[in-house]
Amino acid sequence: MIKACVIGWPISHSRSPLIHGYWLKKHGIDGSYTRQPVEPAALNAFISDLEDAGYSGCNVTLPHKEKVFQLIVPADETTARLGAVNTVFRRAGKTYGTNTDGEGFVGSLHQSLPGIDLNNARVVVLGAGGAALAVVSALLDQGVAEVAIANRTEEKARELRTRFGQRIKPVAWNAAADHLAESRLLVNTTSLGMKGQAPLDLDLSRLDIDAVVADIVYTPLQTPLLAQAVERGNPIVEGLGMLLHQAVRGFSLWFGVTPEVTGELYDLIARDIDPDYRR
Ligand code: ATR
Repeated sequence: MIKACVIGWPISHSRSPLIHGYWLKKHGIDGSYTRQPVEPAALNAFISDLEDAGYSGCNVTLPHKEKVFQLIVPADETTARLGAVNTVFRRAGKTYGTNTDGEGFVGSLHQSLPGIDLNNARVVVLGAGGAALAVVSALLDQGVAEVAIANRTEEKARELRTRFGQRIKPVAWNAAADHLAESRLLVNTTSLGMKGQAPLDLDLSRLDIDAVVADIVYTPLQTPLLAQAVERGNPIVEGLGMLLHQAVRGFSLWFGVTPEVTGELYDLIARDIDPDYRR
């Protein structure tokens, strides 16, 4: 039996077992995917004993993404650039790590809006934390012309310019609304709008009506920001799609089948988040 898991501290809320369990069943694979609570002091040992414990690999979530990066061989340039890992796998006696958050965002964007072309586009990203890093890196790979980044702690937006170069334009947090004109995409990567947090308070009036509004928050499935966008008639991309799409490559690396993000999977996880969810 092929084994994989997700590690974090705490880990009890992770929906990854539901996602991978759906695909294991769908493809009739003799495998398992479990939640493993790993406290920070036990992280090193867990990663070095991965194979002895019978795991093909694991997903990594808070607070371990940066620490695990120090313990693996980066599998690709993007991961080396991000310095954070969400997917670990074993090959030829070595432990590799990769980061699929950015491709998860882009995969979700393209599935929601087939044919969307961000080449030469201007985009606005709210937030400059770990998730923003992965999203910004993926957007640059999509050929965007400019990423305006507004973050409460403005220094962190400036650091992204140092890291990613001249296409990054740090802007003041309270001036984000002024930069929406002529943007093709707005992405919230902050935790604002998440259940239990304050909503994101942003005036969308300067945003073109065909510009896309995306949120990486998925609890609730439709954040107040997305509801505001729907009300104006803007196309939206919900955060749950990114969670589903970031899981694809790990499953493929561990279990040998590239799975699909189906409507059925979306509905399954959406109902777990919100029992009243209706498509
Ligand atoms: P993640 O890995 O999910 O990106 P993170 O690295 O802790 O988590 O980043 C959280 C992001 O949400 C940051 O951009 C943070 O802004 P700061 O860099 O100023 O901390 C943003 N954020 C969290 N709470 C916020 C709030 N109340 N107002 C504005 N931004 C907030």
